[in-house]
Amino acid sequence: MKTVNIAIDGPSGAGKSSISKAVAGDLGFIHVDTGAMYRAIGLFAIRNQCLEPEQIAEKIREVQVELKFIGGSQRVILCGEDVTDYIRSPEVSMSASKVSAVPEVRAHLLDLQKKIASENNIIMDGRDIGSVVLPHADLKIFLTASAEERASRRYLELKEKPDCPTYEEVLNDIRKRDDNDMHREIAPLKQAEDAVLVDSSKMGFNEVVEKITALIHEKLD
Ligand code: DC
Repeated sequence: MKTVNIAIDGPSGAGKSSISKAVAGDLGFIHVDTGAMYRAIGLFAIRNQCLEPEQIAEKIREVQVELKFIGGSQRVILCGEDVTDYIRSPEVSMSASKVSAVPEVRAHLLDLQKKIASENNIIMDGRDIGSVVLPHADLKIFLTASAEERASRRYLELKEKPDCPTYEEVLNDIRKRDDNDMHREIAPLKQAEDAVLVDSSKMGFNEVVEKITALIHEKLD
């Protein structure tokens, strides 16, 4: 059976995951957050002190990553342990950004990502989904927003938490990750030629969900 594959790529903090999750829920599709897979490997690298590219490349065969979908929510399993709740810290974000530049790490996750897409109707979000993982996706979307807008959204989420970074720190972190993601040699973040650009800088959450749902209906109906 041919499955429906929608690719959503874009920079950190553009809202890809929350938007993909909402759209997938409306359509009855599975939402696959590939960033969480890189985050799980980033966590492994921190725990096992193998943050240097050659160290993680050497150990990558030991790193078993699986996804489970429970009630529409993705859980990430790292070597048998559900690590979903431990992969959102700034430390893991930075480590994920580093390990994701290592070719052996990307190759390790590629087959799993392709397999999930071949077996399910999915919305898969990441950086290289339209360009590398699913070049024949039914629809490709590049979802972005200005770095300042992404930083202020992230800052609002963090503001009430203890040890909240300043707005400038959040903005610097986003710029650093953009730079890592866009300038790495392998599978850099870029808009696929046939992707539809959605700039959410001046759009509300529901507006973006509606826009993307409409684009999908247009394509599939
Ligand atoms: O989307 P995110 O912030 O959870 O992603 C975490 C890191 O993983 C980010 O620095 C970019 C990287 N990533 C990637 O290289 N390719 C993907 N398909 C998804 C994420």
